Amino acid sequence: MNNFSYHNTTAIHFGEGQIAAIAGSIPKDKKVLVTYGGGSIKGNGVYDQVVTALKEHNWDEFSGIEPNPQYDTLMKAVERIRQEGFDYLLAVGGGSVVDGTKFIAAAVNFEGEEAWDILAKQAEIKSALPLGCIMTLPATGSETNAGAVVTRGTNKLAFGNPLVRPQFAVLDPQTTLSLSERQTSNGVVDAFVHVMEQYLTYPANAKIQDRFAEGILLTLVEEGPKLINDLQNMEARTNVMWAATQALSGLIGVGVPQDWATHMIGHELTGNFGVDHGRSLTIVLPAIMQVCREEKKAKLLQYAERVWNITEGSEDERIDAVIEQTKQFFSAMNTPVSLTEISLGQDDVDTAMVSLEAHGMTKLGENGSIDLARSRLILETAL
Ligand code: NZQ
Ligand code: ZN
Repeated sequence: MNNFSYHNTTAIHFGEGQIAAIAGSIPKDKKVLVTYGGGSIKGNGVYDQVVTALKEHNWDEFSGIEPNPQYDTLMKAVERIRQEGFDYLLAVGGGSVVDGTKFIAAAVNFEGEEAWDILAKQAEIKSALPLGCIMTLPATGSETNAGAVVTRGTNKLAFGNPLVRPQFAVLDPQTTLSLSERQTSNGVVDAFVHVMEQYLTYPANAKIQDRFAEGILLTLVEEGPKLINDLQNMEARTNVMWAATQALSGLIGVGVPQDWATHMIGHELTGNFGVDHGRSLTIVLPAIMQVCREEKKAKLLQYAERVWNITEGSEDERIDAVIEQTKQFFSAMNTPVSLTEISLGQDDVDTAMVSLEAHGMTKLGENGSIDLARSRLILETAL
Protein backbone atom coordinates (compact mmCIF):
# COMPACT_ATOMS: atom_id res chain seq x y z
CA MET A 1 0.00 0.00 0.00
CA ASN A 2 1.27 3.49 -0.82
CA ASN A 3 1.48 6.26 1.78
CA PHE A 4 -1.51 8.54 1.97
CA SER A 5 -3.07 11.42 3.88
CA TYR A 6 -6.84 11.29 4.08
CA HIS A 7 -9.24 13.99 5.20
CA ASN A 8 -12.84 14.12 4.02
CA THR A 9 -14.48 17.19 5.49
CA THR A 10 -18.04 16.79 4.15
CA ALA A 11 -20.71 16.33 6.84
CA ILE A 12 -23.39 13.92 5.63
CA HIS A 13 -27.09 14.10 6.53
CA PHE A 14 -28.53 10.81 5.29
CA GLY A 15 -32.15 9.70 5.24
CA GLU A 16 -35.74 10.78 4.87
CA GLY A 17 -36.49 14.37 5.86
CA GLN A 18 -32.86 15.38 6.15
CA ILE A 19 -33.25 18.38 3.85
CA ALA A 20 -34.44 20.20 6.98
CA ALA A 21 -30.90 19.86 8.34
CA ILE A 22 -29.60 22.52 5.95
CA ALA A 23 -31.17 25.15 8.23
CA GLY A 24 -28.50 24.40 10.82
CA SER A 25 -25.69 23.67 8.37
CA ILE A 26 -25.64 27.04 6.61
CA PRO A 27 -24.64 29.98 8.84
CA LYS A 28 -27.56 32.43 9.20
CA ASP A 29 -25.44 35.46 8.33
CA LYS A 30 -24.66 34.15 4.84
CA LYS A 31 -26.31 35.36 1.64
CA VAL A 32 -27.13 32.08 -0.06
CA LEU A 33 -27.46 31.36 -3.78
CA VAL A 34 -29.43 28.15 -4.38
CA THR A 35 -28.40 26.57 -7.70
CA TYR A 36 -30.36 23.95 -9.60
CA GLY A 37 -31.00 22.46 -13.01
CA GLY A 38 -33.95 22.23 -15.34
CA GLY A 39 -36.68 21.94 -12.75
CA SER A 40 -36.80 18.31 -11.56
CA ILE A 41 -36.63 19.65 -8.00
CA LYS A 42 -39.90 21.52 -8.51
CA GLY A 43 -41.72 18.35 -9.52
CA ASN A 44 -40.64 16.10 -6.69
CA GLY A 45 -41.09 18.30 -3.64
CA VAL A 46 -37.39 18.98 -3.06
CA TYR A 47 -37.64 22.69 -3.89
CA ASP A 48 -40.51 23.15 -1.41
CA GLN A 49 -38.49 21.47 1.31
CA VAL A 50 -35.56 23.79 0.58
CA VAL A 51 -37.82 26.86 0.78
CA THR A 52 -39.15 25.70 4.15
CA ALA A 53 -35.69 24.94 5.52
CA LEU A 54 -34.27 28.31 4.42
CA LYS A 55 -37.09 30.43 5.83
CA GLU A 56 -34.74 32.22 8.19
CA HIS A 57 -31.99 32.69 5.61
CA ASN A 58 -31.38 35.44 3.10
CA TRP A 59 -31.34 33.63 -0.25
CA ASP A 60 -32.08 33.71 -3.96
CA GLU A 61 -31.78 31.21 -6.78
CA PHE A 62 -30.02 30.46 -10.07
CA SER A 63 -31.56 27.77 -12.28
CA GLY A 64 -30.84 26.23 -15.66
CA ILE A 65 -27.61 24.32 -15.02
CA GLU A 66 -27.71 21.66 -17.74
CA PRO A 67 -26.69 17.99 -17.66
CA ASN A 68 -22.95 18.11 -18.48
CA PRO A 69 -22.86 21.67 -17.09
CA GLN A 70 -21.91 24.30 -19.61
CA TYR A 71 -19.18 26.84 -18.93
CA ASP A 72 -21.16 29.76 -20.37
CA THR A 73 -24.16 29.07 -18.12
CA LEU A 74 -21.96 28.78 -15.05
CA MET A 75 -20.23 32.07 -15.84
CA LYS A 76 -23.62 33.80 -15.77
CA ALA A 77 -23.98 32.67 -12.16
CA VAL A 78 -20.45 33.91 -11.46
CA GLU A 79 -21.37 37.37 -12.79
CA ARG A 80 -24.49 37.50 -10.64
CA ILE A 81 -22.62 36.49 -7.52
CA ARG A 82 -20.03 39.21 -8.12
CA GLN A 83 -22.75 41.81 -8.62
CA GLU A 84 -25.07 40.79 -5.79
CA GLY A 85 -22.56 39.60 -3.20
CA PHE A 86 -23.67 36.04 -2.45
CA ASP A 87 -21.26 34.30 -0.10
CA TYR A 88 -22.63 30.74 0.21
CA LEU A 89 -23.77 28.29 -2.49
CA LEU A 90 -26.33 25.52 -2.10
CA ALA A 91 -26.42 23.08 -5.03
CA VAL A 92 -29.65 21.10 -5.36
CA GLY A 93 -29.79 18.36 -7.98
CA GLY A 94 -27.63 15.77 -9.70
CA GLY A 95 -23.90 15.62 -10.33
CA SER A 96 -24.09 18.28 -13.02
CA VAL A 97 -25.57 20.86 -10.64
CA VAL A 98 -23.09 19.99 -7.90
CA ASP A 99 -20.12 20.01 -10.30
CA GLY A 100 -21.28 23.24 -11.90
CA THR A 101 -21.62 24.85 -8.49
CA LYS A 102 -18.13 23.73 -7.50
CA PHE A 103 -16.83 25.46 -10.60
CA ILE A 104 -18.83 28.60 -9.82
CA ALA A 105 -17.38 28.57 -6.29
CA ALA A 106 -13.85 28.45 -7.68
CA ALA A 107 -14.42 30.91 -10.54
CA VAL A 108 -15.87 33.79 -8.48
CA ASN A 109 -12.53 34.78 -6.96
CA PHE A 110 -10.30 33.41 -9.72
CA GLU A 111 -7.42 35.79 -10.29
CA GLY A 112 -6.18 34.53 -13.66
CA GLU A 113 -7.17 35.72 -17.12
CA GLU A 114 -10.14 33.45 -17.86
CA ALA A 115 -11.87 31.04 -15.49
CA TRP A 116 -11.78 28.34 -18.18
CA ASP A 117 -8.07 28.04 -17.34
CA ILE A 118 -9.10 26.29 -14.11
CA LEU A 119 -10.00 23.39 -16.41
CA ALA A 120 -7.91 23.87 -19.53
CA LYS A 121 -4.66 24.79 -17.77
CA GLN A 122 -5.40 23.40 -14.32
CA ALA A 123 -4.70 26.95 -13.10
CA GLU A 124 -4.20 27.47 -9.38
CA ILE A 125 -7.26 28.25 -7.24
CA LYS A 126 -6.45 30.27 -4.13
CA SER A 127 -9.94 30.48 -2.64
CA ALA A 128 -13.51 29.35 -3.27
CA LEU A 129 -16.94 30.21 -1.92
CA PRO A 130 -18.21 27.71 0.64
CA LEU A 131 -20.86 25.34 -0.65
CA GLY A 132 -23.21 22.61 0.48
CA CYS A 133 -25.37 20.28 -1.58
CA ILE A 134 -28.56 18.27 -1.71
CA MET A 135 -27.80 15.36 -4.03
CA THR A 136 -30.84 13.97 -5.84
CA LEU A 137 -29.14 11.53 -8.24
CA PRO A 138 -26.89 8.78 -6.87
CA ALA A 139 -24.06 8.42 -9.38
CA THR A 140 -21.10 10.75 -9.40
CA GLY A 141 -20.05 10.89 -5.76
CA SER A 142 -19.63 14.62 -6.32
CA GLU A 143 -21.49 15.24 -3.04
CA THR A 144 -18.44 14.40 -0.91
CA ASN A 145 -15.53 14.66 -3.31
CA ALA A 146 -13.38 17.51 -4.54
CA GLY A 147 -13.78 16.98 -8.28
CA ALA A 148 -15.94 18.53 -10.97
CA VAL A 149 -16.41 18.17 -14.72
CA VAL A 150 -17.42 21.11 -16.93
CA THR A 151 -18.19 21.25 -20.65
CA ARG A 152 -17.53 23.96 -23.22
CA GLY A 153 -18.41 23.05 -26.79
CA THR A 154 -16.99 19.58 -27.38
CA ASN A 155 -14.47 20.00 -24.56
CA LYS A 156 -15.39 18.15 -21.40
CA LEU A 157 -12.70 18.73 -18.77
CA ALA A 158 -12.23 18.02 -15.07
CA PHE A 159 -10.58 19.77 -12.15
CA GLY A 160 -10.21 18.96 -8.50
CA ASN A 161 -9.45 21.01 -5.41
CA PRO A 162 -10.27 20.43 -1.72
CA LEU A 163 -11.53 24.04 -1.57
CA VAL A 164 -14.62 23.02 -3.56
CA ARG A 165 -15.49 19.94 -1.54
CA PRO A 166 -19.03 20.50 -0.21
CA GLN A 167 -19.17 21.40 3.50
CA PHE A 168 -22.21 19.20 3.84
CA ALA A 169 -24.24 16.81 1.71
CA VAL A 170 -27.88 15.90 2.19
CA LEU A 171 -28.69 12.42 0.90
CA ASP A 172 -32.40 11.68 1.14
CA PRO A 173 -33.21 8.55 -0.89
CA GLN A 174 -36.85 9.70 -1.11
CA THR A 175 -35.70 12.43 -3.48
CA THR A 176 -34.52 9.76 -5.94
CA LEU A 177 -37.95 8.18 -6.41
CA SER A 178 -38.67 10.58 -9.27
CA LEU A 179 -35.66 9.44 -11.32
CA SER A 180 -36.49 7.78 -14.63
CA GLU A 181 -35.25 4.28 -15.37
CA ARG A 182 -32.56 5.71 -17.64
CA GLN A 183 -31.25 8.17 -15.03
CA THR A 184 -31.36 5.45 -12.40
CA SER A 185 -29.42 2.93 -14.44
CA ASN A 186 -26.93 5.57 -15.60
CA GLY A 187 -26.24 6.29 -11.94
CA VAL A 188 -25.77 2.66 -10.91
CA VAL A 189 -23.28 1.95 -13.69
CA ASP A 190 -21.41 5.23 -13.11
CA ALA A 191 -20.89 4.30 -9.47
CA PHE A 192 -19.88 0.77 -10.51
CA VAL A 193 -17.24 2.10 -12.89
CA HIS A 194 -15.95 4.57 -10.28
CA VAL A 195 -15.11 1.59 -8.10
CA MET A 196 -13.51 -0.24 -11.00
CA GLU A 197 -11.28 2.76 -11.82
CA GLN A 198 -9.80 2.51 -8.33
CA TYR A 199 -9.81 -1.29 -8.02
CA LEU A 200 -9.13 -2.93 -11.37
CA THR A 201 -5.45 -2.03 -11.64
CA TYR A 202 -2.65 -4.15 -10.08
CA PRO A 203 -2.34 -5.58 -6.55
CA ALA A 204 -1.03 -3.12 -3.95
CA ASN A 205 -1.60 -5.22 -0.83
CA ALA A 206 -4.43 -2.86 0.11
CA LYS A 207 -6.84 -5.34 1.61
CA ILE A 208 -9.26 -2.88 3.19
CA GLN A 209 -9.57 -0.86 -0.02
CA ASP A 210 -10.08 -4.06 -2.05
CA ARG A 211 -12.74 -5.47 0.30
CA PHE A 212 -14.57 -2.14 0.55
CA ALA A 213 -14.48 -1.87 -3.25
CA GLU A 214 -15.81 -5.42 -3.67
CA GLY A 215 -18.55 -4.69 -1.13
CA ILE A 216 -19.70 -1.68 -3.13
CA LEU A 217 -19.58 -3.64 -6.41
CA LEU A 218 -21.59 -6.52 -4.90
CA THR A 219 -24.15 -4.08 -3.52
CA LEU A 220 -24.60 -2.42 -6.91
CA VAL A 221 -24.85 -5.80 -8.64
CA GLU A 222 -27.53 -6.91 -6.16
CA GLU A 223 -29.51 -3.69 -5.84
CA GLY A 224 -29.20 -2.17 -9.34
CA PRO A 225 -31.33 -4.76 -11.18
CA LYS A 226 -33.95 -4.56 -8.40
CA LEU A 227 -34.50 -0.94 -9.37
CA ILE A 228 -34.88 -1.83 -13.04
CA ASN A 229 -37.73 -4.13 -11.94
CA ASP A 230 -39.23 -1.65 -9.51
CA LEU A 231 -38.17 1.99 -9.54
CA GLN A 232 -40.07 2.57 -6.28
CA ASN A 233 -38.07 -0.01 -4.27
CA MET A 234 -37.01 2.23 -1.38
CA GLU A 235 -34.59 -0.25 0.18
CA ALA A 236 -32.73 -0.55 -3.11
CA ARG A 237 -32.88 3.23 -3.61
CA THR A 238 -31.36 3.72 -0.15
CA ASN A 239 -28.51 1.26 -0.64
CA VAL A 240 -27.70 2.49 -4.13
CA MET A 241 -27.52 6.04 -2.83
CA TRP A 242 -25.00 5.20 -0.12
CA ALA A 243 -23.04 2.95 -2.50
CA ALA A 244 -22.69 5.76 -5.05
CA THR A 245 -21.41 8.16 -2.40
CA GLN A 246 -18.86 5.66 -1.12
CA ALA A 247 -17.77 4.70 -4.62
CA LEU A 248 -16.18 8.10 -5.14
CA SER A 249 -15.77 9.73 -1.74
CA GLY A 250 -12.02 9.08 -1.99
CA LEU A 251 -11.86 6.40 0.70
CA ILE A 252 -11.43 3.32 -1.50
CA GLY A 253 -8.86 5.14 -3.62
CA VAL A 254 -6.35 5.97 -0.90
CA GLY A 255 -2.98 4.26 -1.14
CA VAL A 256 -3.77 2.37 -4.33
CA PRO A 257 -3.02 2.84 -8.04
CA GLN A 258 -5.89 4.28 -10.06
CA ASP A 259 -6.84 3.91 -13.69
CA TRP A 260 -9.50 6.44 -14.95
CA ALA A 261 -8.91 5.57 -18.63
CA THR A 262 -12.56 4.51 -19.02
CA HIS A 263 -13.65 7.97 -17.87
CA MET A 264 -11.16 9.89 -20.00
CA ILE A 265 -12.12 7.99 -23.17
CA GLY A 266 -15.80 8.11 -22.19
CA HIS A 267 -15.67 11.90 -21.83
CA GLU A 268 -14.79 12.12 -25.54
CA LEU A 269 -17.93 10.14 -26.41
CA THR A 270 -20.01 12.55 -24.33
CA GLY A 271 -18.24 15.68 -25.59
CA ASN A 272 -18.47 14.69 -29.28
CA PHE A 273 -21.71 12.73 -29.49
CA GLY A 274 -23.71 13.63 -26.37
CA VAL A 275 -23.62 10.09 -24.99
CA ASP A 276 -24.90 10.02 -21.38
CA HIS A 277 -21.94 9.83 -19.00
CA GLY A 278 -22.90 6.44 -17.53
CA ARG A 279 -23.53 4.93 -20.94
CA SER A 280 -20.16 6.09 -22.26
CA LEU A 281 -18.55 4.07 -19.48
CA THR A 282 -20.40 0.80 -20.08
CA ILE A 283 -19.24 0.92 -23.68
CA VAL A 284 -15.58 1.58 -22.88
CA LEU A 285 -14.91 -0.50 -19.75
CA PRO A 286 -15.38 -4.00 -21.24
CA ALA A 287 -13.05 -3.04 -24.10
CA ILE A 288 -10.41 -1.84 -21.63
CA MET A 289 -10.70 -5.10 -19.71
CA GLN A 290 -10.08 -6.92 -22.98
CA VAL A 291 -7.20 -4.79 -24.29
CA CYS A 292 -5.46 -4.47 -20.89
CA ARG A 293 -6.09 -8.05 -19.75
CA GLU A 294 -2.39 -8.86 -19.31
CA GLU A 295 -1.51 -5.89 -17.09
CA LYS A 296 -4.77 -6.22 -15.14
CA LYS A 297 -4.62 -10.02 -14.93
CA ALA A 298 -4.25 -10.42 -11.16
CA LYS A 299 -7.07 -8.03 -10.31
CA LEU A 300 -9.32 -9.36 -13.09
CA LEU A 301 -9.00 -12.82 -11.55
CA GLN A 302 -9.65 -11.46 -8.05
CA TYR A 303 -12.70 -9.54 -9.32
CA ALA A 304 -13.95 -12.66 -11.11
CA GLU A 305 -13.71 -14.76 -7.98
CA ARG A 306 -14.90 -12.36 -5.31
CA VAL A 307 -17.63 -10.47 -7.14
CA TRP A 308 -18.89 -13.05 -9.64
CA ASN A 309 -17.82 -16.32 -8.02
CA ILE A 310 -15.96 -17.40 -11.16
CA THR A 311 -13.37 -19.95 -10.03
CA GLU A 312 -13.36 -22.66 -12.70
CA GLY A 313 -11.24 -22.84 -15.87
CA SER A 314 -7.87 -21.48 -16.98
CA GLU A 315 -6.88 -17.90 -16.23
CA ASP A 316 -7.78 -16.84 -19.75
CA GLU A 317 -11.15 -18.56 -19.56
CA ARG A 318 -11.94 -16.88 -16.24
CA ILE A 319 -11.02 -13.48 -17.64
CA ASP A 320 -13.17 -14.08 -20.72
CA ALA A 321 -16.00 -15.13 -18.44
CA VAL A 322 -15.76 -12.10 -16.19
CA ILE A 323 -15.68 -9.66 -19.11
CA GLU A 324 -18.82 -11.36 -20.42
CA GLN A 325 -20.42 -11.26 -16.96
CA THR A 326 -19.69 -7.54 -16.63
CA LYS A 327 -21.31 -6.90 -20.01
CA GLN A 328 -24.35 -8.93 -18.96
CA PHE A 329 -24.68 -6.81 -15.84
CA PHE A 330 -24.54 -3.61 -17.89
CA SER A 331 -27.08 -5.05 -20.34
CA ALA A 332 -29.34 -6.01 -17.42
CA MET A 333 -29.14 -2.35 -16.39
CA ASN A 334 -30.29 -1.45 -19.92
CA THR A 335 -27.03 0.30 -20.74
CA PRO A 336 -25.11 -0.27 -24.00
CA VAL A 337 -21.91 -2.32 -24.22
CA SER A 338 -20.87 -1.39 -27.75
CA LEU A 339 -20.67 1.70 -29.97
CA THR A 340 -22.79 -0.05 -32.59
CA GLU A 341 -25.65 -0.27 -30.08
CA ILE A 342 -25.82 3.52 -30.02
CA SER A 343 -25.29 3.85 -33.78
CA LEU A 344 -21.68 5.03 -33.66
CA GLY A 345 -19.10 3.60 -36.08
CA GLN A 346 -15.54 3.79 -37.34
CA ASP A 347 -15.78 7.46 -38.39
CA ASP A 348 -16.88 8.34 -34.90
CA VAL A 349 -13.89 6.49 -33.45
CA ASP A 350 -11.69 8.69 -35.63
CA THR A 351 -13.46 11.82 -34.35
CA ALA A 352 -13.08 10.76 -30.71
CA MET A 353 -9.39 10.04 -31.28
CA VAL A 354 -8.78 13.56 -32.59
CA SER A 355 -10.19 15.14 -29.44
CA LEU A 356 -8.52 12.62 -27.14
CA GLU A 357 -5.19 13.70 -28.62
CA ALA A 358 -6.14 17.39 -28.48
CA HIS A 359 -6.84 16.98 -24.76
CA GLY A 360 -3.41 15.45 -24.20
CA MET A 361 -4.80 12.05 -23.19
CA THR A 362 -1.79 10.18 -24.47
CA LYS A 363 -0.67 8.18 -21.43
CA LEU A 364 -3.78 6.84 -19.74
CA GLY A 365 -4.26 4.10 -17.20
CA GLU A 366 -2.57 3.08 -13.94
CA ASN A 367 0.70 2.43 -15.78
CA GLY A 368 0.44 5.29 -18.25
CA SER A 369 0.57 2.55 -20.88
CA ILE A 370 -2.57 3.46 -22.82
CA ASP A 371 -1.13 5.60 -25.60
CA LEU A 372 -3.16 6.83 -28.54
CA ALA A 373 -2.68 3.58 -30.47
CA ARG A 374 -4.10 1.57 -27.56
CA SER A 375 -6.96 4.01 -27.06
CA ARG A 376 -7.84 3.50 -30.71
CA LEU A 377 -7.69 -0.26 -30.20
CA ILE A 378 -9.98 0.10 -27.17
CA LEU A 379 -12.54 2.11 -29.13
CA GLU A 380 -12.34 -0.30 -32.08
CA THR A 381 -12.80 -3.24 -29.69
CA ALA A 382 -15.91 -1.43 -28.42
CA LEU A 383 -17.44 -1.12 -31.91
O1 NZQ B 1 -31.77 19.38 -14.42
P1 NZQ B 1 -32.84 18.68 -13.66
O2 NZQ B 1 -34.19 19.16 -14.01
O3 NZQ B 1 -32.58 18.67 -12.18
O4 NZQ B 1 -32.86 17.15 -14.17
C1 NZQ B 1 -31.76 16.25 -14.03
C2 NZQ B 1 -31.05 16.00 -15.35
O5 NZQ B 1 -31.91 16.21 -16.43
C3 NZQ B 1 -32.31 14.92 -13.69
N1 NZQ B 1 -32.49 14.67 -12.26
C4 NZQ B 1 -31.61 14.80 -11.25
N2 NZQ B 1 -32.14 14.41 -10.09
C5 NZQ B 1 -33.42 14.02 -10.37
C6 NZQ B 1 -33.65 14.19 -11.74
N3 NZQ B 1 -34.82 13.89 -12.32
C7 NZQ B 1 -35.80 13.41 -11.53
N4 NZQ B 1 -35.64 13.19 -10.21
C8 NZQ B 1 -34.47 13.48 -9.59
N5 NZQ B 1 -34.31 13.22 -8.28
O6 NZQ B 1 -31.36 13.99 -14.17
C9 NZQ B 1 -30.74 14.52 -15.34
C10 NZQ B 1 -29.26 14.21 -15.31
O7 NZQ B 1 -28.65 14.87 -14.24
P2 NZQ B 1 -27.05 15.01 -14.12
O8 NZQ B 1 -26.78 15.82 -12.93
O9 NZQ B 1 -26.48 15.44 -15.42
O10 NZQ B 1 -26.60 13.49 -13.90
P3 NZQ B 1 -25.39 12.90 -13.06
O11 NZQ B 1 -25.64 13.01 -11.61
O12 NZQ B 1 -25.16 11.57 -13.62
O13 NZQ B 1 -24.15 13.87 -13.38
C11 NZQ B 1 -23.41 13.73 -14.56
C12 NZQ B 1 -22.28 14.73 -14.60
O14 NZQ B 1 -21.34 14.48 -13.55
C13 NZQ B 1 -20.03 14.32 -14.11
C14 NZQ B 1 -20.33 13.79 -15.47
O15 NZQ B 1 -19.24 13.89 -16.35
C15 NZQ B 1 -21.51 14.63 -15.89
O16 NZQ B 1 -21.08 15.89 -16.35
N6 NZQ B 1 -19.19 13.52 -13.22
C16 NZQ B 1 -18.74 14.07 -12.07
C17 NZQ B 1 -17.89 13.40 -11.21
C18 NZQ B 1 -17.39 14.02 -9.97
N7 NZQ B 1 -17.70 15.26 -9.69
O17 NZQ B 1 -16.68 13.39 -9.20
C19 NZQ B 1 -17.42 12.06 -11.50
C20 NZQ B 1 -18.19 11.38 -12.56
O18 NZQ B 1 -17.36 10.39 -13.14
C21 NZQ B 1 -18.71 12.24 -13.66
O19 NZQ B 1 -17.69 12.47 -14.63
ZN1 ZN C 1 -18.31 8.77 -13.68
